Formats: sequence, C-alpha cells, structure tokens
Amino acid sequence: MTTCRSIAPALIAVLTLAGSIALAQVTEQDTALAANDCTPQGELRGDPARGKELHLQDCAECHGETGKVDVIVMHMDVPPKDQSDPAYMGTLTDAFLYLAICRGGAPVGRSIVMPAWGDYYSDQDIKDLVAHIRSFSGT
Ligand code: HEC
Repeated sequence: MTTCRSIAPALIAVLTLAGSIALAQVTEQDTALAANDCTPQGELRGDPARGKELHLQDCAECHGETGKVDVIVMHMDVPPKDQSDPAYMGTLTDAFLYLAICRGGAPVGRSIVMPAWGDYYSDQDIKDLVAHIRSFSGT
C-alpha cells in the first residue's frame, strides 16, 4: 500500500515530462516548416533527388510523376502543360518556375488550380523541386 502511494506521483511526473518532450518536438518541427517570402535568389536549382520526393508527395497527382500529365484529374478546366517537353520548358525561366510553385498559378498568369506552396515549402524545398522539374525536359 505504502509503496503504491509513493509510486503514483512519480509515475505522473514521468508521464508529464514525456508529454512535454513530445510537445517540444512538435513545436520544433513547426518552425522548421516556416513559410518563405517567394523571392527567388541565387542558384535556383537545388537537389533533384530531394525534389523528387516532394514531387511524388504533392505534385505528381496533377502533373504526373514525370511531368507528362499522364494522370486523370477531375475539376481541372486548364490541365497542366507537359513539363517533359523541351520546346515548352525552354520558354520558361527558373525564376518563373520558382514563383509559380511559391505563389501558385494565378499570380503568374496561370490557372488558379495550381496551388501556392509558399506556406508549406522552404526556399530550399522549392529550389529542389525546380531542379527535379527541369530533369523532365533536360532544359
Ligand atoms: C491540383 C492540381 C495541381 C497540383 C497538386 C500541382 N499543380 Fe502545378 N499546375 C497545375 C495547373 C493546372 C497548372 C497550370 C496550367 C496552366 O495554366 O497552364 C500548373 C502549373 C505549374 C507550373 C508552371 C509551369 C507550367 O507547367 O506551365 C509549375 C512550375 C508547377 N505547376 C509546379 C508544381 C509543383 C512543383 C507542384 C507540387 C508542389 C504542383 N505544381 C502541384 C496543377 C497542379
């Protein structure tokens, strides 16, 4: 009996500590996901391998895994263009690609269906995506 009573507060203390450590980790992760201000600067092509991971996660559902739009998406009045086409991609600058990803379609004169990712992706994330998208067309 005596042992049980003295263990309980200790257990609660341990659980509380574990809880606050878990909470601290979540907060740290949140700040790592800070938004960027959509200012393309310096070398705009990052790590294509990392860009590929992000692309599979968030972009391939509309653009297709290799940018060819070989996917069926409902509710797209204007389907994305073929990003594996060098003739088309050669007309676009890296800064345009960066801004289209960061701000979304409408601010760069494209379809509003293209979402803005600046609240989710860091500057480096977007540069990694630009590098990966460029690999579709070799431009
Ligand atoms: C809900 C569907 C959808 C998703 C998800 C999506 N896009 Fe788009 N994207 C579009 C559409 C539609 C356009 C514009 C078509 C037009 O107006 O020519 C577009 C345009 C673009 C452009 C402008 C260049 C071009 O192809 O003409 C880039 C760059 C781009 N998307 C990259 C991405 C990246 C990177 C992701 C993931 C982070 C992504 N998109 C996610 C639908 C989507």
